[in-house]
This record gives sequence, C-alpha cells and structure tokens, in this order.
Amino acid sequence: MQAITRGNVKIIVTEDPGEMGRQTAGLVAEEMKKNETLVLGLCTGGTAVPIYQELISMYMERTLSFRNATTFNLDEYYPIHPRETSSYYCFMRTELFDYIDITSSNILFPNALSRNPSQACESYESLIQKCGGIDLMLLGIGENAHIGFNEPGTPRTSRTRMVALTEKTRASNSRFFDVLDQVPSHALSMGIATIMDARKIVLSACGAKKAKAIADALEAISTPEVPASYLQEHPDCTFVLDREAALYLL
Ligand code: PGA
Repeated sequence: MQAITRGNVKIIVTEDPGEMGRQTAGLVAEEMKKNETLVLGLCTGGTAVPIYQELISMYMERTLSFRNATTFNLDEYYPIHPRETSSYYCFMRTELFDYIDITSSNILFPNALSRNPSQACESYESLIQKCGGIDLMLLGIGENAHIGFNEPGTPRTSRTRMVALTEKTRASNSRFFDVLDQVPSHALSMGIATIMDARKIVLSACGAKKAKAIADALEAISTPEVPASYLQEHPDCTFVLDREAALYLL
C-alpha cells in the first residue's frame, strides 16, 4: 500500500481490488466506530462489490454493526420497480443489505416509481437534510469520470434530479441487463452539490480502464467536462485505487 496526495486529495494505492475493498471498508468502519448513527451515502457497480463483501465480513465477525446507521443511495434508474433484479435497490440488497443488520426503514433511495420525478428528487434532498446531511459518501467513477449519473457537462450546483443516460453509460451498464434495450434511458441521481455537501468522500476505482479518468480527475483543473475533478475542491476526499487505476499517478 502506498499513500500519496494530489492537492487536497489523499490517495491510497493498493495492490489489487481485494485490498482496495479492505482499505475502503476500513475507512467506513473507522467512521462508524466514531459515530454509530452515521449517515452513509452508497454507490453501486462492480467496484463496490469487494467493499461490501468486506463490510459483510466485518459484520459477521461482530466488529461492525449497521443497526443505527442510515444509508442514502447515490442513484437509481427511472422508472424502475425496486424488485426488478436490475434495479440498484436490488443490487444493494443482494450485495450488502440482506447480510447486515441495517434497519430497513433506514435504507433510502430516490423514489423511482414516482409519477412526479422532480418532486421525488426534491423530497430526497429534504430527507438528506432532515437526517443531518451525509457523513461519508462512497463513490465509484465512470470511464468518462462521471460520479453517480453526473455525466460530463454537469454543473457544480446540480442537486438530485432526473438525468438522461449517455449511450456510453447505457452500453457500459448493459452488463447488468439481458440486452442493451432493457437499460433504462433515465435515472434519478444525486447532483454534484449533493455529493460535495458530504462531510467526507471516498472514491474507489480499479483497473486500467479507469486510469485515464483518475488522472484527469486529479490533474485537470476542476471542470464540468470531468465531473470527478470537482472533488479536488472538497476538504476531506480520499481516492482508494488499485495499482492499475493509479497507473498515471505513480
Ligand atoms: P463500476 O461503475 O464500479 O461498475 O465500474 C462505477 C461507475 O460507473 O460509477
């Protein structure tokens, strides 16, 4: 493991996705031990799987409890039924929630069945405020440096809203569906301002496919064309990478 910094951002470079998962989960556990009513922002995607496996192991070993924690997921397809296997709600259940002691009423998602998506997004923002804001936000990153469904061009002031998915993101996410046509065209996603309001942010990434996005996020000046570059302005942001994703930083 190697620790480096770029500006404000702390970077932990690990050997492989397994170690990335252990390091990221370790940062979550550290915060949960300080505050058992932690408000956690959670992401989905392949990168999250080793992180959630590690959190499950910690729960099984009784070193961590989620009983008093609250979770807000970063995004959800729209419209989608939570019971559909391709929903992010279902992903979270099968990869984490079904195996830990989280209280089901503390699991929060934007309402992807609402007939009024803008109202559903406003309610989600209000709920985050009501819970005192997000203490720790976990993020992945897209090959185009998106965070959540905040694609290139997303303004710094954006909040939870309905977004149209780019064809590239739909194609990349089609691995979780039977065919590309089944990938929804829209999603409800926290905005950049929602993410930046979190008190602490941890972005995790693995693999050579993410190396350019990581380098752009840290090397370019903060720009809407590289949504993850906004994170440079956050006072407490850590990137946990495997060696391949850190290729251009070492
Ligand atoms: P991945 O997705 O972890 O499946 O690569 C991350 C993202 O697109 O945000």
